[in-house]
Amino acid sequence: MRILVLHGPNLNLLGSREQSIYGTTSLDAIDAGLTKLADELTVDVDIRQSNAEGELVTWIQEARSGYDGILINPAAYTHTSVAIRDAVLAVALPTVEVHLSNIQGREAFRHHSHVADVAVGQVSGFGAESYFLGLRGLHAHLTSSRRPRKTSAPVRKKRGR
Ligand code: DQA
Repeated sequence: MRILVLHGPNLNLLGSREQSIYGTTSLDAIDAGLTKLADELTVDVDIRQSNAEGELVTWIQEARSGYDGILINPAAYTHTSVAIRDAVLAVALPTVEVHLSNIQGREAFRHHSHVADVAVGQVSGFGAESYFLGLRGLHAHLTSSRRPRKTSAPVRKKRGR
């Protein structure tokens, strides 16, 4: 199982950026935690960060070949990017959206996500843990959707004597 992990704009500054909201954990530390968890789950993760919307869109498109799912924190593009939403719809890969902060508890402009309704689910408000919960959720979703369908044996009616 191979998962593409995408971090959006300004997440490269985690650790120093608005610590009261985003905490003191750096992006490198989050990536190390994701890599460790991925090993436990026996999942391959490919982790990338970009400040550019187009680059994120291109990476989502490229995930069509070779990836089973996407874990994404679109950061500010969550609230603005129809292009990222459309890319997620176009590739039709199970996608989980994560946020460090609780976007519903912040400014009104952060309450809407263009990705949430096309994602499998959203994890928001648990700091770095949101990523780990998101990866576990995506892994569980992919595992259950991969399981072969149960084919129940045809029910034979007993013949009366
Ligand atoms: C964020 C929330 C967004 O509103 C914000 O623009 C970010 C980070 C989060 O992880 O809490 O950059 O996605």
